[in-house]
Amino acid sequence: MNKNLVTVLAVALLLCLAGCALAATPAGVVETGTGVSLIPASSWAETYPDEYATYMATEANSQVTDYVADYPMISTIYEGMAFNTYYSSARGHFYCVADVTETGRPHKLANCFTCKTADFTHMVNEQGVSAYTMAFDDVLANVNESMGCYTCHANDPAQGNTVTHTYLADAMGDDFSKVAGQTAVCAQCHVEYYFAPDTKATTLPYTSLAVMNPDDIYAYYEAMDFADYTNPRTGVRQLKTQHPEFETYMGAGSVHASMFTCADCHMEKVTREDGTTFRSHTLVSPLDSESIMATCAACHADLPGFVHGIQEKMEERTIAIGYKLEELTNKLADAVAGGQYTEDELNAIRALNRKGQWYWDFVFVENSEGAHNSKLDNSCLDKADALIEEALSLFKM
Ligand code: HEC
Ligand code: HEC
Ligand code: HEC
Ligand code: HEC
Repeated sequence: MNKNLVTVLAVALLLCLAGCALAATPAGVVETGTGVSLIPASSWAETYPDEYATYMATEANSQVTDYVADYPMISTIYEGMAFNTYYSSARGHFYCVADVTETGRPHKLANCFTCKTADFTHMVNEQGVSAYTMAFDDVLANVNESMGCYTCHANDPAQGNTVTHTYLADAMGDDFSKVAGQTAVCAQCHVEYYFAPDTKATTLPYTSLAVMNPDDIYAYYEAMDFADYTNPRTGVRQLKTQHPEFETYMGAGSVHASMFTCADCHMEKVTREDGTTFRSHTLVSPLDSESIMATCAACHADLPGFVHGIQEKMEERTIAIGYKLEELTNKLADAVAGGQYTEDELNAIRALNRKGQWYWDFVFVENSEGAHNSKLDNSCLDKADALIEEALSLFKM
């Protein structure tokens, strides 16, 4: 190791010891029960003009692409659920409500508002899980804002970060206090979740950090015999993974999980004219922020080049395995229709298809394309590939 690198690492370690201690401040948890109120974002515009203005600025990122056009294999892989005809990419937080109401996917229940609007979060906090089964359109009539200050601060931003989606605190158990508040608030939505079969309540598939990984989550779904949808042609009871950014970033193999919070890389610190600082509430890619990149420069001379290199390789692998999964789906559909296989033979292939898709989807729908934890993503793709190959080897011709 050369001397400069040693110095850099030593300084980084010291910064981290100081920074990590601060970063480990956990979030509070919102008060729930009859009569709890919601202060809308607009009420904070004068008290916190900079946070408010930067929060409103997420409107600028209106760009959205349709994944079904970009990744044609998902029209087959997701057959049996609405994502196979319309699945848009993420854009600014400002658009959460517009995107959930204007998709080509119809919604019946209000639980789809879980990650979109503070008004619904408040309803859950006031009336309990029965809010999840209210009619989508009835709730829409009472939606006034997208994500609000309430979402991450409850009714008092001066108190720091507060989690208002209580299912997160429930899923973390005693580990909740080990998660930095600036990460926990993001984990309210950037996580894998499911709707509990009986109450339709948004629920996370784990009970502690130790079992918050793709293998144990799969075991959790197996134990409850859960499926999000059934592919109509193959009869495979499939799982639909959803944006597991938190699980991926915090997972085994993550280089930076103990050094940086989500906010460190996605909410830049801005210095005002008077020298004081605030957090920009426009969630950006670190590659779009000079000031965030400056904090990385000691170790990453060319951060964009480094990140794009990881992402290109991950995309290439994900697409290649996605095509294999499409091939498996079509072959299995033919086998089901053809009648030359026993039900036991078909079930053996179905089981491999279900599990292979789980590991593939875990990477496909994670929004950083490998940047958060390429080691974990590659191990998921290794597993997906092996399971799909094994399934393909079971066909008689
Ligand atoms: C997606 C979550 C999220 C939302 C929504 C959000 N904040 Fe924040 N806010 C944060 C995080 C994370 C921090 C950084 C906390 C820290 O560093 O301890 C923060 C910090 C702050 C601070 C402390 C000063 C600063 O800028 O660092 C204030 C004040 C604040 N937010 C106000 C607001 C207001 C007003 C709104 C609504 C217009 C809002 N926030 C919406 C996550 C959020
Ligand atoms: C209430 C749910 C919720 C919370 C809390 C939340 N997000 Fe998001 N986030 C979303 C949704 C939904 C989208 C996609 C928006 C769309 O396309 O309509 C998104 C999009 C994003 C994007 C892409 C934005 C763009 O302009 O392309 C980033 C980056 C992001 N979130 C980071 C974060 C970080 C970091 C935090 C915590 C400080 C956080 N989010 C908290 C729900 C949430
Ligand atoms: C060490 C820095 C770092 C940390 C910490 C981090 N991310 Fe990221 N994140 C990245 C990078 C790099 C990308 C890829 C950006 C790009 O492609 O331009 C990314 C991408 C994303 C995206 C996709 C953005 C888009 O425009 O589509 C989301 C959403 C996101 N991160 C959420 C999170 C959440 C939630 C956390 C905490 C659990 C987190 N990130 C922690 C570095 C980080
Ligand atoms: C103390 C040195 C140091 C600092 C500071 C640092 N990194 Fe890193 N980072 C590393 C090392 C070491 C690796 C692993 C390199 C490898 O795998 O080749 C890494 C890997 C990464 C990866 C790839 C992760 C993966 O799983 O493949 C991303 C993305 C990243 N860093 C982003 C950032 C961002 C953004 C910042 C600034 C907010 C930052 N880093 C600051 C040392 C650092």
